[in-house]
Amino acid sequence: MTSPHRPQILVFPDLETLSRAAADRIVAAARNAVSAKGRFAVALSGGSTPRMLYALFAAPPYREALDWRTIHIFWVDERCVPPDRGESNFKLVDDAFLSPLGVPKTQVHRVKGEMEPEKAAGEYEKDLRAFFGRTGIPVFDLIILGAGEDGHTASLFPGGTAAHERTRLSVPVYLHSPNVNRVTLTLPVLNHAAEVLFLLSGRSKAPVVHEIVDEGNPKQYPAGLVRPVSGTVAWMIDHDAASLLTGQVFRRAG
Ligand code: 6PG
Repeated sequence: MTSPHRPQILVFPDLETLSRAAADRIVAAARNAVSAKGRFAVALSGGSTPRMLYALFAAPPYREALDWRTIHIFWVDERCVPPDRGESNFKLVDDAFLSPLGVPKTQVHRVKGEMEPEKAAGEYEKDLRAFFGRTGIPVFDLIILGAGEDGHTASLFPGGTAAHERTRLSVPVYLHSPNVNRVTLTLPVLNHAAEVLFLLSGRSKAPVVHEIVDEGNPKQYPAGLVRPVSGTVAWMIDHDAASLLTGQVFRRAG
């Protein structure tokens, strides 16, 4: 199944304007979700690109723009390390705004990276089921994704088995040293989100952006397989990451 919605391509002059635009979209999505069902469920990625976005939530005007009592935070993926380690995606978000704002732990659904990966994936799936329901595929109101130069997204790597998972919600990803093992949401979950935002910055991402959103072969990259079945997907990229795009496939913003 493919999305009826073509990806929206939005190009920004730099990471700062991109981050502010992403924050505005998160605020809008949260308001819609809260007015429809009283809560907002978002899954966040690690990596360097969303750092500036996450920092925005700890300060005005974004801190006040959200009703933090209604927001449930999940993670797209996690490295299998304790939550106080520098590589932890939980720590990235916790340091940026969860701790500074005192977001209650009952609204924070982290992957237990300190556990063995298979067990951590199983526990995470249980948490997802407890929140979203025992059957069906969870529908996140919003998912923030990044993509690597190799076209991976979340911890779904080209050539890896996790990108082929069709039934589980969360799976372990065993990587060769020196990389740490990971736990990731699977494509069925990513593709049932109401809204997906890819955030990409920098010239090193330009070739993969060209391949996935322009004239290339998106399906050979896990990031190119993210096409929500009934939700929307937007690629929010900075000028450098957009530098190899050809044709009028994008609209400038910011
Ligand atoms: C992670 C991710 C991963 C990330 C990309 C892009 O935890 O590393 O979730 O999929 O989004 O690797 O990372 P950058 O933003 O650092 O380029």
